[in-house]
Amino acid sequence: MALNPYKLRKDFPILNRKINGYPLIYFDNAATSQKPIQVIEAIKKFYETHNANIHRGMHTLSQEASDMYDESRSKIAKFINAEEEEIIFVRSTTEAINFVACTWALENIGEGEEIVISRMEHHSNILPWRIVSKIKKARLKVANISPVGSLDYENLQELITEKTKLIAIVHVSNVLGTINDLEKIVKMAREVDAKLLVDGAQSVPHMPVDVKKIDADFLAFSGHKMLGPTGIGVLYMKKEIEEEVEPFFGGGGTISDVNCREDECSVEWASIPLRFEAGTPNIAGVIGLAAAVEYLDKVGMEAIRIHEEKLTKIALEKLREMKRVKVYGLREAENRAGIVTFNVEGLHPHEVASFLDQYGIAVRSGHHCALPLHRALGAFDGTVRASFYLYNTIEEVEFFIGELKELISKFSIS
Ligand SMILES: Cc1ncc(COP(=O)(O)O)c(C=O)c1O
Repeated sequence: MALNPYKLRKDFPILNRKINGYPLIYFDNAATSQKPIQVIEAIKKFYETHNANIHRGMHTLSQEASDMYDESRSKIAKFINAEEEEIIFVRSTTEAINFVACTWALENIGEGEEIVISRMEHHSNILPWRIVSKIKKARLKVANISPVGSLDYENLQELITEKTKLIAIVHVSNVLGTINDLEKIVKMAREVDAKLLVDGAQSVPHMPVDVKKIDADFLAFSGHKMLGPTGIGVLYMKKEIEEEVEPFFGGGGTISDVNCREDECSVEWASIPLRFEAGTPNIAGVIGLAAAVEYLDKVGMEAIRIHEEKLTKIALEKLREMKRVKVYGLREAENRAGIVTFNVEGLHPHEVASFLDQYGIAVRSGHHCALPLHRALGAFDGTVRASFYLYNTIEEVEFFIGELKELISKFSIS
């Protein structure tokens, strides 16, 4: 069923804000999403009525907090069709990817072996692999993108060899909105027995994602981009891999036994995934993320995808009609998520964003933590990015286009 953004908007208190006298039009969803009252209330209720530390207290509050934390894990697992144990709570996508780098990758990638990424990665899916390749003297290979903004699958295939241990690829580009063909990529990985890590920061919040269907080994995503709070993210790790991996962070909650003699401490780790969640976790964050997932489930991920596709199609068509506007990425809205990225000839991206802000329109300008991609696009000063979510409307897109036209006519150079 189609979603009704006008109805959903009522759940988001921040959307009542005025910015510079104009109603807020929030098109910076790829950076972080706004939060519905249901999520804000879930966190508030936890602190007001159930707050205690988890998994280590016999008193009522601790039991309640533990139950809420554990139930949240199962809701979040179900959301991506994973097993409960396969969900490791971390702070963010960035931490999830670094987690794989510090654990599985350091243990399993050796000198002369290869990690393959693409030129459309966010820095969070480049730098951890640079660190691993430096430490392990492994090779980091980077697949090109095609001139139209898709992954160059031929080049990717050429880069993958028998020495490839890991392919780390973004599901949806945070700049171009391109949706990568994971089915194709997982096949390439399996042919050489390499693992596949998927950066799901821009896909999990916006479309149905089923880890069993994708068959990736690792999937990383952030709560704050999917209506949840900041400071909570998820690393999905396939169970059979998780059981083999040594914890990187040790601490409270990670063990079933520790025994220290004079010159040695031995340890029996707790079961998965608890052995990976050292110290007091972000309990309220996990509960807030579960409320976000519940909200998204109710609206329907397919409906969200369709709604964003509609807004993207309109924005792309109108932007492409405009003189002096260069739009990046694939022509078809069906193959891209709700992200449109462009530049206005003669204006710096920050000038465009600042102008739009005067009318209450929040867009992002800069390199969006994807410098190699901007170099490949020849957009050295960066780009302007408008990214949509379930509460955005056609009227907002039209207002944004109208103000952009106004800007272009104001700064017209003959
Ligand atoms: C594709 C992609 N990967 C990773 C990240 C990093 O996410 P976080 O800052 O939540 O760790 C982002 C954030 O914008 C992103 O868009």
